[in-house]
Amino acid sequence: MNATALRNQPAWSALQAHYATTKDHHLKQYFADDPTRGQRFVAEAAGVYLDYSKNRINSDTLRLLLQLAVESGLRDRIDAMFRGDRINVSEDRAVLHVALRAPRGASLTIGGQNVVPGVHAVLDRMAAFAERLRSGDWKGHTQQRIRTVVNIGIGGSDLGPVMAYEALKHWSDRSLAFRFVSNVDGTDFLEAVSDLDPAQTLFIVSSKTFTTLETMTNANSARDWLLAGLNGDSAAVARHFVAVSTNASEVARFGIDTDNMFGFWDWVGGRYSMDAAIGLSTMLAIGPAHFRDMLAGFHEMDEHFRTAPFEQNLPVLLGMLTVWYTNFFDVQTIAVLPYEQYLKRFPAYLQQLTMESNGKSVTLDGKPVNYATGPIFWGEPGTNGQHSFYQLIHQGTRIIPCDFIAFLHSLNPLGRHHDILIANALAQTEALAFGKTATEVEAEGTPTQLVGHRVFTGNRPSNTILLDTLTPAALGKLVSLYEHSVFTQGAIWQVNCFDQWGVELGKVLAQRIVPELESRADPMLSHDSSTNNLIRRYRAAQRRD
Ligand code: F6P
Repeated sequence: MNATALRNQPAWSALQAHYATTKDHHLKQYFADDPTRGQRFVAEAAGVYLDYSKNRINSDTLRLLLQLAVESGLRDRIDAMFRGDRINVSEDRAVLHVALRAPRGASLTIGGQNVVPGVHAVLDRMAAFAERLRSGDWKGHTQQRIRTVVNIGIGGSDLGPVMAYEALKHWSDRSLAFRFVSNVDGTDFLEAVSDLDPAQTLFIVSSKTFTTLETMTNANSARDWLLAGLNGDSAAVARHFVAVSTNASEVARFGIDTDNMFGFWDWVGGRYSMDAAIGLSTMLAIGPAHFRDMLAGFHEMDEHFRTAPFEQNLPVLLGMLTVWYTNFFDVQTIAVLPYEQYLKRFPAYLQQLTMESNGKSVTLDGKPVNYATGPIFWGEPGTNGQHSFYQLIHQGTRIIPCDFIAFLHSLNPLGRHHDILIANALAQTEALAFGKTATEVEAEGTPTQLVGHRVFTGNRPSNTILLDTLTPAALGKLVSLYEHSVFTQGAIWQVNCFDQWGVELGKVLAQRIVPELESRADPMLSHDSSTNNLIRRYRAAQRRD
């Protein structure tokens, strides 16, 4: 199927016609017409409850969206992924992050080879290392116990680990501290290590390629910092550095003992790697048993996605609602609003997952799309966002569908806090959907000149995603839910969710500009006049002019 074919799908045309007739229908009316709507437009699986009733849909919308999923070949795409087909066509790779959480004894194959035993072999090595480090058996160069673990990585080699560390802090060993360094801005590294003792610090250099400029620059600074603090004894590197990578030769070249390298595979994309060895910091924090619980949570949602009929399939429903808003309501952004402080980095994590995956404008066969693809994802934890940007969501001119994520039980029960937190989450979805009319505002005795300001139009869509408690398994389910929702969207848009060519050009140009900034001699600049001028200005500030 090519790009034009998507717009020619019967379900696509039907959805366009359906949109034209229902676009102004108010959620208030939908709920008034069907008092059971709040129990009907829900789905539950793997301990995740999705209430999607406050979306601008009716049964016909849902039927047509699911028909579009069928016509777009979503089933085949799912099967192809789980079968280990090379669905990452632009890099000619299989995409099998689901194998990272397959139970021991399961079989998922690439080219006839079962990859699951290899996955568990790495998990077992990670677990053995984690036990040694957590027990204090693994000592630093001066025989001191490791007290702080610093993960150095960027993109998928940072966002997953830092998100998971924050999310699962409750389950972590508090006698170990964790820091995450990603930015090539030296401030990131220096602030992270400023109060650390090199003798008690372990660095995990996390990089799939082990060539990423930011990560290698930070890793080199880390090695310098360590050696400066340990009398320059280069033998210390082996006790204070481990690596997570697919590139053994570069790891060895850096000086890390490849016995202390934890590998993964080219069929794991960076943004899909937090449950591969890239999750080493997570395992060190929460321990191997909790890490395996997290993997089991992922797997439960994977199996649900693979097997459940589309109408009950949480990732499919979530994904198709995103398609509905993106392609028919012309929605530009989606807010993800966790009512759970531990999920404070979840929106940042989701930004890479969603936007690096579906921020594409050509189809699998390289042809330009003629419809919108991946929306912008953003968010902050509630209730903080309520006192900041929610104003725009409630009364601005744009429709911003929201995902509210909440847990029935708090890990830190404290007086009435959790009741108040959850009341706020529910109140927001209610206010967004139903608003407040001018008549209602007037009835409150509001002065006439203020009525317009205090009206809430409502009809602003949201999902509510409820889980029981933020356990490692729950986090796995939540991440897997979004991974497969992204996959669903990509299948409809026929884009390759698993490459990221869009980050390449900037990388290449930066490599060209670095020597132009650093050279002693005046460089021959052949950029545009703006870039040339900015380079000269920087050089002048460094007195290199
Ligand atoms: O930003 C592009 C990217 O390739 C991401 O996809 C990836 O997660 C990140 O860089 C880090 O790459 P690596 O793990 O190879 O250092």
